Amino acid sequence: TGIKDFYKDDFHVGTILSTGALLKNDTKTLSLVAREFNAITAENCMKWEPIRPNDKEWDWTAADKFVEFGEQNKMYIVGHNLVWHSQCPKEVFQNETGGVISKEGLTKKMQDHIATKAGRYKGRLQAWDVVNEAVEDDGSWRKSPWYNIMGEDFIAKAFHFAHEVDPKAHLIYNDYNTETPVKRDFIVNMVKNFKKKGVPIQGVGMQEHLSIDGPGVEEIDKTLTMLKEIGVRAHITELDIDVLPSVWNLPTAEVSTRFDYTPARDPYTKGLPKEIEEKLAKRYEDIFKVYLKHRDNIDRVTFWGTTDAESWLNGFPIRGRTNYPLLFDREYKPKAAYFRLLDLK
Ligand code: XIL
Repeated sequence: TGIKDFYKDDFHVGTILSTGALLKNDTKTLSLVAREFNAITAENCMKWEPIRPNDKEWDWTAADKFVEFGEQNKMYIVGHNLVWHSQCPKEVFQNETGGVISKEGLTKKMQDHIATKAGRYKGRLQAWDVVNEAVEDDGSWRKSPWYNIMGEDFIAKAFHFAHEVDPKAHLIYNDYNTETPVKRDFIVNMVKNFKKKGVPIQGVGMQEHLSIDGPGVEEIDKTLTMLKEIGVRAHITELDIDVLPSVWNLPTAEVSTRFDYTPARDPYTKGLPKEIEEKLAKRYEDIFKVYLKHRDNIDRVTFWGTTDAESWLNGFPIRGRTNYPLLFDREYKPKAAYFRLLDLK
């Protein structure tokens, strides 16, 4: 048994599968995942760039294995994702002569991509993250190529296309910083409008890439309350808790490119001190108490990784740091936070 069994009457508990674990058939990771979790999300292998590196080719190798693994273990399987500005080749937004593609051209490409990708796994996935991260932190539309070329309509279109292809899949809008009031208001309003206009959307994904210090749980609580009010299910889609000092105040160039092992930015290279381990456990506890309070409207709580070794936060937003955001350590052993979550009810 694992954490999934402890929360079986509340919500699914999920994690991601990396392309590496799937292709290498990394049984150490896969067996831990099968024991502990009953939901899986594709970390990278279903994104546009890896699965369709150019207009002519598709590479289904890892995605097929991902879906098979989920089926073998009777898991709630989440496709991530159909439409996103990131990890999407530039070529998508170009016409045959290398200029900016027309609105009609891009709409057609979007439809074709969704039809092929969601079509291949029709009836086998429980949910799709249909559109990822279309809203800025300041509560405005993200000026991505999708938005710039297709206008704000691109989001509703993506949901209609996905619904036509796989009518039983649960369709989700997914974003981060869903606790930031202006961003939350904007998303809630957008989804309310979608529901009014009959756009097929059933869920909102709160990514929950959180830090050890914030945001406050009352903001998480508020977002969950608002999602319930507008009649959509809540999915916690990418939970992890960054324990390192924030580097978001550094100049952008430095944040995205520098390897930096200075103690100020990477203080726990020799392991996480006991008091931070405890602080992390307490933070997970506080957050899960809020999830439990909203259990009637939460379908799933998915962690963005299983062990600290595989977490993307070792490299984001600054490369080369040693982070400890998850429930299992680098030896695949459960951490204090894991035991705390098994002691909550
Ligand atoms: C991350 C992956 O974990 C990394 O391996 C990859 O290099 C970048 O993307 N929001 C999302 C996820 O929706 O797809 C991102 O995953 C993390 C942020």
